[in-house]
Amino acid sequence: MSSLGREGTESFDWFKGAKPDSDIAIDTMTRDMLIIHASEMLTLRGPRRARAKEEMSDLSIVTDGAVAISDGVIVDVGKTDSVLRDHDATGMDKLDAKGKVVMPGFVDPHTHVVYAGSREFEIELKAKGKSYMDILREGGGIYRTVQDTRVASVKELFDESYKRLESMIAHGSTTVEAKSGYGLDKEVEIRLLEIVRRLGENLPATLIPTYLGAHAVAPEFKSKPDDYVEFIVSEVLPVVAKRKLAEFCDVFCEKGVFNPKQSKKVLLAAKQLGMKLKVHADELHSSGGAELAAEVGAVSADHLVRPSDDGIMAMARKDVMGVLLPATPYASMSKEYADGRRLIDLGVPIALGTDLNPNCWNESMQFTISLACHKMRMSPAEAITASTINAAAALGVEKRVGSLEHGKRADILVMDTPKHAHIPYKFGTNLCSQVLKDGAIVWSKQSL
Ligand code: NIG
Ligand code: FE
Repeated sequence: MSSLGREGTESFDWFKGAKPDSDIAIDTMTRDMLIIHASEMLTLRGPRRARAKEEMSDLSIVTDGAVAISDGVIVDVGKTDSVLRDHDATGMDKLDAKGKVVMPGFVDPHTHVVYAGSREFEIELKAKGKSYMDILREGGGIYRTVQDTRVASVKELFDESYKRLESMIAHGSTTVEAKSGYGLDKEVEIRLLEIVRRLGENLPATLIPTYLGAHAVAPEFKSKPDDYVEFIVSEVLPVVAKRKLAEFCDVFCEKGVFNPKQSKKVLLAAKQLGMKLKVHADELHSSGGAELAAEVGAVSADHLVRPSDDGIMAMARKDVMGVLLPATPYASMSKEYADGRRLIDLGVPIALGTDLNPNCWNESMQFTISLACHKMRMSPAEAITASTINAAAALGVEKRVGSLEHGKRADILVMDTPKHAHIPYKFGTNLCSQVLKDGAIVWSKQSL
């Protein structure tokens, strides 16, 4: 095995210090700063929990707004006059956001960012009418990426994922969930989670790891899904939990992948080991995923393109969040999107995520917000709530990030446009002008 070897944690030793040729700056700027004169400061002030129904429409906007940051933490938010009066004497650096929206950093609560290779050739297959499941059954899709990921070196996996995360940060994501799921065997699944940890240590974004061994039945267990589930539960989950490699456990509960009984076995074992739960639920068929998420006490049920009415009601009763991923039907050339409007009206708190994966190479929460408005009938304000405080709640970090309030981490975006409704409206471009992580400017349009 080469020095960039594929086994063991020592293989990370090659990486020390910052990455060369990176647009992303780590810790180069002050963590004390005033951002002033925002045309709209979207504070999302309110309860430090997921917002539901009409709460999702309230961004608590301050016009001519300002925020004061000290030591990476928000210490004041309000009108520019009053913030300047209280903080200017301290001689803090000032960032003028005149004509710009200032808002919390995006939280992306659902990604498969760590993988090797790409699947652009599937575009033509999909255009010829092959469904996502046809491609998977024929050994493509997830299986193709599992092949590529298993033979990739740690360095290749790290570098490819690092590049994607850099771009996500440049597009405003300051907290990102990251799933395993392209190793399927024990060694590679653990490797992917170790890489997530290393990426979080080396990039200015908070990464939250999720174990998704139940993403597809591993090729070694072909036609024996129950045996694979048993392998996950007895061989892999205990190690993942003991080494604290993942905060969440997720399962692809879907007709033809894992049924609710198999999914439940994995999820309950993970819960016993102290992990929080997520479910890929009802993406392609009504598969009982929403019901299962409510039954096992999952934090979120994700996708929800075809949930049953009972499933939706059970989620609303049990406070399970819905994480909607509108770039997935877009990339899969499907006309059916989750009914965000109806889910919100029925009282399910909704978050949005990119679902970045090799089928859906979407690095932008801004594009996701645009799709949510245009394809799921969410309002711009609802989509922004779903991408900030609600997405934070879908990861259990709503007390730390997701709104601009006293005491929260200064993860902040300055958007180069005067109105929040421009975020879905002006799609296909990056509106971020500055991205701040913990009070430091980590990406700036001017730096390009
Ligand atoms: O969330 N649906 C399952 N998993 C991913 C897709 C993974 C892939 O196609 O590589 C999703 O869309
Ligand atoms: Fe996914």
